Amino acid sequence: MRHAVIMAGGSGTRLWPLSRQRRPKQLLDVVADPGGGAHSLLAEAFGRLQAVLPTENIWVCTAAAYGEQIRAALPELAPGRLVLEPVARDTANAVGLAAALVADADPDAELAVVSADHVIRPVERFAAALGTAFDALAVRPDALVTLGIVPTAPATGFGYVQRGAATEVPGVAEAASFREKPDLATAQGYLASGQYLWNSGMFVWRARTVLDALADHLPETAEGLARVVAEPPGAERDAVLAEVFPALPKISVDYAVLEPAATQPGRVLVADLDVEWLDVGSWPALAATLEHVDGNAVRGLTVTLDSTGNVVLSDDPDHLVALVGVRDSVVVHTADVTMVCPVTDAERVKALLAAVEERY
Ligand code: GDD
Ligand code: MG
Repeated sequence: MRHAVIMAGGSGTRLWPLSRQRRPKQLLDVVADPGGGAHSLLAEAFGRLQAVLPTENIWVCTAAAYGEQIRAALPELAPGRLVLEPVARDTANAVGLAAALVADADPDAELAVVSADHVIRPVERFAAALGTAFDALAVRPDALVTLGIVPTAPATGFGYVQRGAATEVPGVAEAASFREKPDLATAQGYLASGQYLWNSGMFVWRARTVLDALADHLPETAEGLARVVAEPPGAERDAVLAEVFPALPKISVDYAVLEPAATQPGRVLVADLDVEWLDVGSWPALAATLEHVDGNAVRGLTVTLDSTGNVVLSDDPDHLVALVGVRDSVVVHTADVTMVCPVTDAERVKALLAAVEERY
């Protein structure tokens, strides 16, 4: 059967001070509703999958610390479908844990892995592309399929998949190579060549296939997870998980699995995902989800005069943020922190947060 798991355990440090350890970005109500109000990226990801799969086949994987907030945010999440990692060990281990539990429930499961931090329009085209990627498993059952997007900039925060030979399935090609987060010069070369797609961070494979790939490329994780699912569900399994998981190597699925697997001909496939797609990782990206007033992306109590290109956000209903003559800046006010930076320095917010944490 077809299943999907939403990876929802990141903390979103580049959206500080709105995202916090205790309230990560996927749970923030940042996506504006047409009639006013807003909803979270996680709710958006869940709704998107409901267009493709029965609700009981949708899983969410996150760090235990976020479990309660996630249950509250997703009242429709079916019982037993919340996978909790004792601590965050990045996506290779999160994907592995989810795949091990899904395979335990349904040994022949086909599993889509999706991110919790994307805005995708229109949903119908996403649903069709995911369906095509699942269909590819009928002819290439042992494939690792990534969903690829035509790149529009030499972004260094994404993975890149090189399109190789066509497959039997229209819209699906073999991946000739995979490279996670290249440097700028490399990304520029990829973009100019026209041969590369962005890895959307969404994948389709049989749960067993990704566990086999982990056994090949990240054996400690594969062995640890095998110990976990050897126990019956319940207290014994939780105890082994709590012992095993924190010691697993912290690495993303892109570096650990996709990069090495793509060196084997035909092992990785790439399915075209032709949608408007936004990875809401930083302030300029988040701006696209906000209301636009007088040339600024705004939310909350804000007034701007002769100011453009700004991202202005007040998270405190009693606190006004007012700008005059300000250009291309991010101004974010929350109950306990005010953060200001030029839009061009938005990627450095992560470093700013590290500096703050060192001092306070
Ligand atoms: N459960 C769990 N546990 N989820 C996690 C963890 C973890 O330890 N770490 C991150 N996630 C979740 C995030 O919440 C997000 O939904 C997703 O996994 C991807 O993590 P990011 O940290 O946002 O990854 P990225 O954006 O740097 O890179 C990935 O996505 C890009 C596209 O958005 C890679 O797959 C890139 O290759 C890709 O281009
Ligand atoms: Mg991301």
